[in-house]
Formats: sequence, C-alpha cells, structure tokens
Amino acid sequence: MDELRPATSAALGRVVSVARPGYQARLIATIRRGLGDTVQKWLPAALFYDDTGSELFEAITRQPEYYPTRTEAALLTAHAAEVLALARPHRIVEFGSGSSAKTRLLFDAYPDKLGPRHYMPIDISESMLRHTADALITAYPGMSVQGLAGDYDEALAVLPRAADSLVLFLGSSLGNFRPDEQATFFTRLTNRMGSGSHLLLGIDRSDHGGKPVERIRRAYDDAAGVTAAFNLNMLRRLNREFGANFDLAAWAHRAVYNAAARQIEMHLVSRGPQTVTVTALSTDFRFRRDDSIRTEISRKFSLARMTDWLRTFGFAAVRVWTDPAGLYGLLLLRRE
Ligand code: TRP
Repeated sequence: MDELRPATSAALGRVVSVARPGYQARLIATIRRGLGDTVQKWLPAALFYDDTGSELFEAITRQPEYYPTRTEAALLTAHAAEVLALARPHRIVEFGSGSSAKTRLLFDAYPDKLGPRHYMPIDISESMLRHTADALITAYPGMSVQGLAGDYDEALAVLPRAADSLVLFLGSSLGNFRPDEQATFFTRLTNRMGSGSHLLLGIDRSDHGGKPVERIRRAYDDAAGVTAAFNLNMLRRLNREFGANFDLAAWAHRAVYNAAARQIEMHLVSRGPQTVTVTALSTDFRFRRDDSIRTEISRKFSLARMTDWLRTFGFAAVRVWTDPAGLYGLLLLRRE
C-alpha cells in the first residue's frame, strides 16, 4: 500500500470484450432449445441484462422488498476492514460487478480510501461496465481498472492467477446457477485462483432456520412492479434483437418459492392462448393460457452446507458473517 501511485489515471480504465466469436449464434441456439422444451419452456437469464435490463436490475436492488442488496451492503460495511486485513488483496476481481456500488464499500476500507491496486470487474453488459470503469477511475485515482465484458465462462478463461487476489461473487448470483453449474463454476474458479488467494461469496439464506417464505418470495415480486418490468423486458429484447412479436400485455410476471428445491422460480405466464413468431428462429411457438416460460431460478442456501461443500473444491472458510435477522450470509474463503 506504500508505493507511489500515479497522480492522473486517464489511461488506467479500460474494458475489453472477452466474448467468444459465435456468441450470438450460440444464444440463438439456446433460445431455440428453451422455447422448444416440451416439459417446461425456459429462456436464458443472460437475456435479462441489456441496457434497460441492467438499469431495471439496479432499480430492483433499491426496492423495499428486495432485502439481499442492502443486507449484503450492511455486512460489507461492517466487515470490510476485517476482510481486507484477512485477505490483504492487491487485486480485486468481481464476477457480475454491475454498478460496483457495493464494491466501493470495500475500496473505501483501504488506508486512505485508495482501493486496491488493480480492479477487474466482469459483467455481461459492456455499456454498464464502461460507465462503471469510468466512474471508478475518477473516484479512485491510481487504481487500474480492467473490465472484462462477457459471460463468466469467457472471463474465467482469461483470469490472472495471482496469490494476492480477492475474488468477489456477491449478490447471491451463485443462486442463479443450478447445482451442476455451481460445481462447474467452482471447479474452474479453483483452477484459476492462486494458492493463498481469497473468495468473498455473498449468498441468500433459505427458509430453513425460520426465515419467512413470503419474505423471500416478495423480494422477487415487489409492489412497485419493478421485478415484473425486468422480467417482461426479456420479451422486449427478443422482439428487438431476435425479430420476435411478443405482445407484452399478454404476459404476466410470476415468482414462486419452491421449498423442496429451496429456490425462487421466475416465470412469464401466458394470459391466454397465443402464437408467437421468432424470426431469428424461423419458428412459431404456441402457448395456451397459463403456459409459462421460466426465466430464472434463485437458489437459497444453508451457510454450514455451503462451507462444507466448498471444502471439496479446495476452499477453506476463513470467516462467515450473517446479519442479526439471519437473512443473508457473507463468506470469506481461502484457496488452499
Ligand atoms: N442474483 C439476484 C437474486 O437471485 C438476481 C435477481 C434478483 C433476479 N431479482 C431478480 C433475477 C429478478 C431475475 C429476476 O436475487
């Protein structure tokens, strides 16, 4: 923390796209598989995060019902100094950085509030990343910011293997992966992380332990309808980018908590019988009333089970924090 930092930082923030060629073609193939699924139609969650979607998601995090963001921010505020003292990171890498608003709580806990030497935010939204990188190099002169625009797999392939790194995976984004995808992610991550580096994981807790189920569900069905707008925006994007003709008024937002699977399931429900054409797929899709398209899952976790499971990937729990109401967990882990 004691070496000289440049006084100006004009050239220190940059964003590179790590999207592999053929991303759009693969996305189209995935949409075809999802809308063609005869058991439960689904769409890939990556479609949420266009410019409008990224803004709507930021608005979700400010809704009174959406407790994860502010609970996690409170945990970060309370424990940032301890996280830094334990992990001593010179480089912070963040999966799904979005606006990096919560990350600033960590930056501000550095001596003189200078932040780490290097920050590598990873986000699917390139425009969001550019805004964030620009704002950060202004707010933290001397910090080098290198954004990676792409999905997590693409970013994992180019991650620097440094021992003095802290990898952030916040916002319970882990819960948006199926268990097999979680395992794949941790396997790849553990292979990319140097021994002695750290992982800070933020996860939403399940109803086991007395957390009210309706409290969880309402976080995904806010009264102001922001989550509904976020969900429906996916159809607008299909119309714009993939030549679909979804009538947004013919679809309703639904969020249910599946207690057996410990997960929220987000759907778009057809309000009546309808046929939708997707030009990019040269295909018509028929929906009956109440047919649904699943757009996202958000799994909820047991902290004890998570720390046990992560040990099998070579991550040892250094410290686990939770809020007084026990809604949310923040885990600091060390790559052995
Ligand atoms: N990681 C967030 C979560 O699972 C993502 C999220 C919040 C989300 N609200 C949503 C995803 C609504 C889709 C729809 O809590």
